[in-house]
Amino acid sequence: MPSQALEGLTTESGWKITQRLDKPLGTGGNFCVRYFVENENGETGFLKAMNFTDSMDDLVQLQKNVNEYLFECNILEHCKTKKLSRIVTPLDAGEIIVPNFPPKLNKVYYLIFEKAEGSLRDQHIEVQNKKWLPALKALHHVAVGIEQLHNIDIAHQDIKPSNVLAFINDDFKVADLGRVVDKNGTSPFCKLPFPGDHTYKSIEMFFGIQDLQFITRRSCDMYMVGSLAYQIVEDIPINASVLNEVRLIDSTVQRRPFQEALPFLLTSFNTVLNRYEDKCCTLFGEKTANSLTNIIREMCHPDPAQRGVVRFSDEVNRLSMRRYVTRLANLIRSASIAGVK
Ligand SMILES: Nc1ncnc2c1ncn2[C@@H]1O[C@H](COP(=O)(O)OP(=O)(O)OP(=O)(O)O)[C@@H](O)[C@H]1O
Ligand SMILES: [Mg+2]
Repeated sequence: MPSQALEGLTTESGWKITQRLDKPLGTGGNFCVRYFVENENGETGFLKAMNFTDSMDDLVQLQKNVNEYLFECNILEHCKTKKLSRIVTPLDAGEIIVPNFPPKLNKVYYLIFEKAEGSLRDQHIEVQNKKWLPALKALHHVAVGIEQLHNIDIAHQDIKPSNVLAFINDDFKVADLGRVVDKNGTSPFCKLPFPGDHTYKSIEMFFGIQDLQFITRRSCDMYMVGSLAYQIVEDIPINASVLNEVRLIDSTVQRRPFQEALPFLLTSFNTVLNRYEDKCCTLFGEKTANSLTNIIREMCHPDPAQRGVVRFSDEVNRLSMRRYVTRLANLIRSASIAGVK
């Protein structure tokens, strides 16, 4: 495949492709081959090469993949113009011709980003000796990033540990705008109720409660940020815990209509959060544990009508990340004073 044969080539813009990364991808990375790159100033970058070979015989599919790539490029450019500080934006994008492949098959589309140290998945979730303060900072930075996107009417829709990148000095940014939906409806995914990794979607969607409204996308983004707060401590997304717990009450619950399942979901949600709070208490002390648990209680409330800051009756305010950005900043300050490392 041409996208796998880029080592040693140099892009027209002067990035030399130095090394292919062979680490297996997570649940989402089926279309991309990843490389490290370097320019003549010695700067390094991370290159994502789109792999369209599988769709070469299917023109409709090929067009779809190219459109998705072009849309991602446009959105990334837009975020760059808007100077969104907590979103990973590209250093370069374009096409590269790979020798020894026949014309049409020899063109690979790529994106180059600043190189991160790793992701929240490989730097925290999959690590035994966890550093808690950086993980709490990551949550704050993600909340800021999502607020920045929402402010320009973009919903991320794929927030998960592998899409949070870690840079030096405990600096984190939200990456992977490959599944975003914009309020204007230009996204190739705007007809999909949920374009991201389904493991992380909000819990009512597992019961068929879904629609295409932009406010619902914001609600789902908020849920995924809350789930991240859960996962940095428990290693698994909140859906996994709540669904496991609810099956203990009723093994057939997932066949029930959502309104019928909701009381069971609420009971399980409370059980799971009580356990989480106890664990956080040991790790961070009572004050931080309580604040963090309350944030998740609001962000991941199983009833979408009760999600967010419920004292605001209008949905836009209720589902705004603003208050959580402030609360997470305060939480980090008090955790740090309490000696959390
Ligand atoms: N700019 C970067 N610098 C360094 N590593 C990166 C960068 N971007 C992504 N990665 C690494 O590559 C992994 C997957 O990247 P990417 O987001 O492109 O794939 P994906 O399609 O979302 O798959 P996944 O389900 O693993 O997130 C990330 O988890 C991270 O470890
Ligand atoms: Mg990703």
